[in-house]
Amino acid sequence: AALVEHTFVVSQVKLNRLCNDMLVTVVNGQFPGPAIEVKEGDSVAVQVINKSPYGLTIHWHGVKLQLNCWADGAGMITQCPIQPNKNFTYRFNVTGQEGTLWWHAHVGSLRASIHGALIIRPRSGSRSYPFPKPHKEIPIVIGEWWEMDLNQLDKNLRNGHLFDMPRVATINGKPGDLDNCSGTVKDSNILKVEHGKTYLLRIVNAAMNSEYYLKIAGHRFTVVAADANYVKPYTTDVIAIAPGETVDALLVADAHPAGRYYIVAKANQPPKPAIQIPVFISRGIVQYGDGPRKVEEKALSDSASLIMAPEMPDKHDAATSFYFHGNLTSLQPQPVPANVHEHLFYALDASFVCREGESSCNNATNMMGMVNNVSFQLPTTTPLLQAHYHGNTSSIGTLRELPDRAPRMFNYSETLEPTSKATSVRRLRYNATVEIVFQSPVLADTYANPMHLHGHDFLVLAQGFGQYNAETDVATYNLVDPPVRNTVHVPLFGWAAVRFVTNNPGVWFMHCHFGHHSSSGMAAAFVVENGPTLDSTLPPPPEDFPSCKTYNSRVSY
Ligand code: C2O
Repeated sequence: AALVEHTFVVSQVKLNRLCNDMLVTVVNGQFPGPAIEVKEGDSVAVQVINKSPYGLTIHWHGVKLQLNCWADGAGMITQCPIQPNKNFTYRFNVTGQEGTLWWHAHVGSLRASIHGALIIRPRSGSRSYPFPKPHKEIPIVIGEWWEMDLNQLDKNLRNGHLFDMPRVATINGKPGDLDNCSGTVKDSNILKVEHGKTYLLRIVNAAMNSEYYLKIAGHRFTVVAADANYVKPYTTDVIAIAPGETVDALLVADAHPAGRYYIVAKANQPPKPAIQIPVFISRGIVQYGDGPRKVEEKALSDSASLIMAPEMPDKHDAATSFYFHGNLTSLQPQPVPANVHEHLFYALDASFVCREGESSCNNATNMMGMVNNVSFQLPTTTPLLQAHYHGNTSSIGTLRELPDRAPRMFNYSETLEPTSKATSVRRLRYNATVEIVFQSPVLADTYANPMHLHGHDFLVLAQGFGQYNAETDVATYNLVDPPVRNTVHVPLFGWAAVRFVTNNPGVWFMHCHFGHHSSSGMAAAFVVENGPTLDSTLPPPPEDFPSCKTYNSRVSY
């Protein structure tokens, strides 16, 4: 196993997209940021040099970080932000995971521009991939181009305003040719392939607020992994990927080599969005060899008829996502722990609620995300992990135990009132088997909810439409080969059940990966106690751990 070292210089740089120069906060001048490539078992050291005006942290999304919660980089959950002109080096091992994960900033909305892929290959000398070795591997990072200051976005979100939208969706940082102010090949991500060869696409959804459907005209995918866990090869012409999720898929270049083919990422929208949302579509091009000559200078609109476009799902098609997720099973049978110690039922909601003293507030400006009626608030002075480690969580005035179920019979047709704000935590003893049923609202106008857990993978046992029924739905659980994931896409109008063992002491954030849901409180933290032995005890923090002393009020979290 090797030590893989990176230096991430975070700074504001001028990037040009869609005819505009924008000052964007990125890593090493790149959008998306650099991919980290490791072999399973490697150690990673990433020195973050913060030359931006913002406090920030970097989170290693999906990396299990065994006994290394300090490296998790969840702002004000595990650490104080790295202040401007300060450095911090994250050190962690990548063990027992193979496939694609990613990294992103974890304060406010900075992850919109600070993110990149984390690629984990099998260790050398071991068996290789459980599928034919691909000719090449190609990262596909789906993201968004925001033409606004992300701190302003945070401010607006904290005030319950959710009108802000990115300008366009991007594939590997490129908007594609559909915006009025683009339309040339240089704005599109070009995927060059050779006829007859197989490619491994490493797909990340780094977008803030949209699930995406991904298709390539004239081609099919074989999904082989999700969230860095192998799945039974699943052949499909469409991939559904929610924010926070990753998918590894094989692409066989077996179409006519003279053709060119659009690769399209199209947002999946809820059926009745509370506000008008544009349908975000980004497209790139798959071409064989070097493609038509001189195409680089040619406006795509001239030659559009030469490029085959896939037929995309309807913008309100929730079923395709439901079946895509439901069709994934893990490659190997999973030992599903049977004896559940903690049954948790988490009702999710993001609703417009009145503020105190307001009598009429239906103006869509007071959105609150919540879990079991509690809207999560980050601590402002001491990160939860530090408070927990020093045994003084009571110093966090806003701390509260999250109830294990919704406080009263959940009436899906209305806002779950009363809603309170708190730093809600659920304490769990070490080595407990936890089952969580996540319930999306059934009647309210809302989104599906990609719920992400830090520091653990979970088994996704089942999902369903409608209201979860404890008596009958248990019979639908997959106790043989459920997929293992770090993010579960709780279906629109439905529920999902996950199970995991608390084998990693620390404080682990659990939240919806939609930016406007998590910023407004659809989140909670799991406090996993130490186990009985040294190798189940969280070691002390690194010596150069960032302190909150110079906490910068410009930073949202
Ligand atoms: Cu990908 Cu808490 O995040």
